[in-house]
Amino acid sequence: MNISDIKIAKDTYWVGKIDNREVPFHRLILAKGTTYNSYLLKTGKPTVIDTVDMEFGREYADRMAELIDPLDIAYIVINHTEPDHSGGLAALAMRATNATIVCTEIAVPEIQEMYKLHSRNYLVVRDGDTLDIGGKTLLFKETPYLHTAETMITYCIEDKILYPCDIFSTHVAVEKLFSDEAGFDITEDFKGYYSAIIHPHRRYVRTLMEAVKDLEIDMIAPSHGFLIREDVRKYIDLYAELSRETTQGKKAAIVYTTIKNNTKKMAGILQATLQENGIEATVWDADKSDMNDIIESIEAADAVFIGSSTRYADMIGNLEPLLKELQLLNLKGKLAAAFGSYGWSGEAIEVIQDYLNGTNMTVQSTSDVIKSTGMTHVEFPIRVRFSPKEAEKTQKIKNAAEFVSDLLLSAI
Ligand code: FEO
Repeated sequence: MNISDIKIAKDTYWVGKIDNREVPFHRLILAKGTTYNSYLLKTGKPTVIDTVDMEFGREYADRMAELIDPLDIAYIVINHTEPDHSGGLAALAMRATNATIVCTEIAVPEIQEMYKLHSRNYLVVRDGDTLDIGGKTLLFKETPYLHTAETMITYCIEDKILYPCDIFSTHVAVEKLFSDEAGFDITEDFKGYYSAIIHPHRRYVRTLMEAVKDLEIDMIAPSHGFLIREDVRKYIDLYAELSRETTQGKKAAIVYTTIKNNTKKMAGILQATLQENGIEATVWDADKSDMNDIIESIEAADAVFIGSSTRYADMIGNLEPLLKELQLLNLKGKLAAAFGSYGWSGEAIEVIQDYLNGTNMTVQSTSDVIKSTGMTHVEFPIRVRFSPKEAEKTQKIKNAAEFVSDLLLSAI
């Protein structure tokens, strides 16, 4: 493909890379390959939007130099710092020494550290900011966790083109730029990409829908796969539909023992957050309730939270017989999480985690959260030192409950 031929709008060019290998990505193999779409807007203040995978950085910078003197590039917009899109920045920035890097605040240290670009000029943009690039205007919307914290999308007001980076992408490597030229219906590829990359973060699709609802969009120019210029709203609506939640009939059981009511308070925060998310959550004090009632509640639940304060490096109260009993039951398909307040080391929480791992429930762990979503603000088991009242601790408990809610409330 001759990149210099690929004009997508007035003064706007596709300058990406087709990668038709079976690309390893997020523990998947992209059987159809992918593309890394980058865009050059040759305006009064020439602007690049996203780059390509770091493996192709040098080739990308060479090709860019065929289209424009790199010294003339005024801005390089980085919507998302994952190296399949920011990776070409190192090679490009070496030549485009006058360019200001445009990104969110969270992205700045990431770019600085990844590409040793500490001394470059950065323009930090916030939700709703605009940038005059000389004849065109870019509008920025923050879309955190779609699919990483620093993510934003860029919209060109005059061209009515949305540059959403990973969002609305497809992993298909073909030498056709637009979905209407593909020769096949891209819907399954579009949905497949959504499931793999976006769905674990579907809570944040609401933010995205809010961000794009008032934009008049004639074209979606994402950073993987096809550009979409026909039925644009159909594809946006698909995200809304695929991420929609259903709250019908989901239940949680929260069981705790407590010394000074801190673990009880954690149970209350879990319950309130789950209920805010449409889940019927029942709380049980294991020392004051009949074990048969608790087991009945657990058997009826879709998610089970079990917590204890720590005393003398162990659980307190009546939890151990209950946990032993749970290991004998068939609880397959249920989600489980351990929690607790502690003062020193919180051994009880780890003991509960071990017991839960001995059941056939799906036990949540920080490691699994990171591997499945890349999110680092959700931690399991849920450990809080002393009182959970401080905002940061409360938020930590809420994050965990919201994560479990999202797992339960999926429409897919
Ligand atoms: Fe296509 Fe999140 O990278």
